[in-house]
Amino acid sequence: MSAGSAAELFRRTFGRDPDGIFSAPGRVNLIGEHTDYNGGLVLPFAIDARAQLAAGRGDSSKVRIVSAQKPGEVVTVAPADIEPGAPAAAGWPGYLLGSFWAVRQTGRPLEPLDLVLDSQVPSGAGLSSSAAVECATVLAVSALAGYRFDPLTVARLAQRAENDFVGVPCGPMDQTASAAAADGAVLLFDTRAGTVENIPFDPAAHGLAILVIDTRVAHSLADGEYGRRRASCERAADVLGIRQLRDVPFSGLPAALDRLPDPELRRRVRHVVTENERVARTVALLRAGRIVEIGDLLTASHASLRDDYDVSCPELDLAVDTALAAGALGARMTGGGFGGSVIALVPAGRIDTVGAAVTAAFADHGWTAPVLRSVTPAQGARRDA
Ligand code: GLA
Repeated sequence: MSAGSAAELFRRTFGRDPDGIFSAPGRVNLIGEHTDYNGGLVLPFAIDARAQLAAGRGDSSKVRIVSAQKPGEVVTVAPADIEPGAPAAAGWPGYLLGSFWAVRQTGRPLEPLDLVLDSQVPSGAGLSSSAAVECATVLAVSALAGYRFDPLTVARLAQRAENDFVGVPCGPMDQTASAAAADGAVLLFDTRAGTVENIPFDPAAHGLAILVIDTRVAHSLADGEYGRRRASCERAADVLGIRQLRDVPFSGLPAALDRLPDPELRRRVRHVVTENERVARTVALLRAGRIVEIGDLLTASHASLRDDYDVSCPELDLAVDTALAAGALGARMTGGGFGGSVIALVPAGRIDTVGAAVTAAFADHGWTAPVLRSVTPAQGARRDA
């Protein structure tokens, strides 16, 4: 994206300069999957693909929104009509309108405004394109109204837009990564404590690269499986008499499993508790500068998501297995699962070999070719101008 493309489209559409340019990134999760709604630990980072938003105080009584990815459409809504379930909330405008709504829910008066979106975060790839749009919009709407939210507040409001306006029951990870991640770092987010810490993460300095393999299998959090996993975790916590599965320490896992009669619940709990432990071990290795050694933890995370949590799919499994066979040090599905992307830790010199092997394996199965991206940790949501 050229830095000024959203601004340029704003000028063309509304015939004046925007008052500000804002952007927020997509994310991948290094490790810590399906732990964020259990009070657990996650370790995502922001990627160098961003949603950019040019914003201007309205010169009409309406909120008007435009997207570079939907040429020719100008969505015009009276602020009073921006409510969950409103017709204008359906489809892509919902992410922007929901973010406007979430900021207004804090009790702050908001004036009409014009917003132009240009997002380079691919949608449907499990890279949190919606969180990127929401975080950029919360930032834009609040800044133009003269409010200053810290990154965790931006994230909370963006998540509120997704949960209560768009209607997707996601946890807090994606929006928090998009809002609070720092350049060159992974974000350790303790979802129980509500604390974040950026931990330096520089694979290139260790001769490594991060390859993201988009399986092109559409994933949807709204299709019910995600909600069912959440419900299982809540049921297990109920049976165990605890608030959230975070309350089961790794050392207490065998005892907790003994108290769960249902074999499926046992597997769900085993995933969540072991995954929290894997995040903690990954963090310890990163702090010790032993990044090369995290590969096995990534691969173990995938096995747990596949076998205990049942959120993988054949395309994700093939991408992981092929990447490992071609020389990746570790690989796992990233995000909610059922499609979306795999993340692989690869010696920099082998990135082409690994990518080619996965592409060939998909072709052998007659599947759509995967999309390969090498990603580096980038800066979270910010005002660009
Ligand atoms: C999706 C959700 C996140 C998180 C992951 C699984 O990305 O949006 O909140 O639950 O799935 O780790």
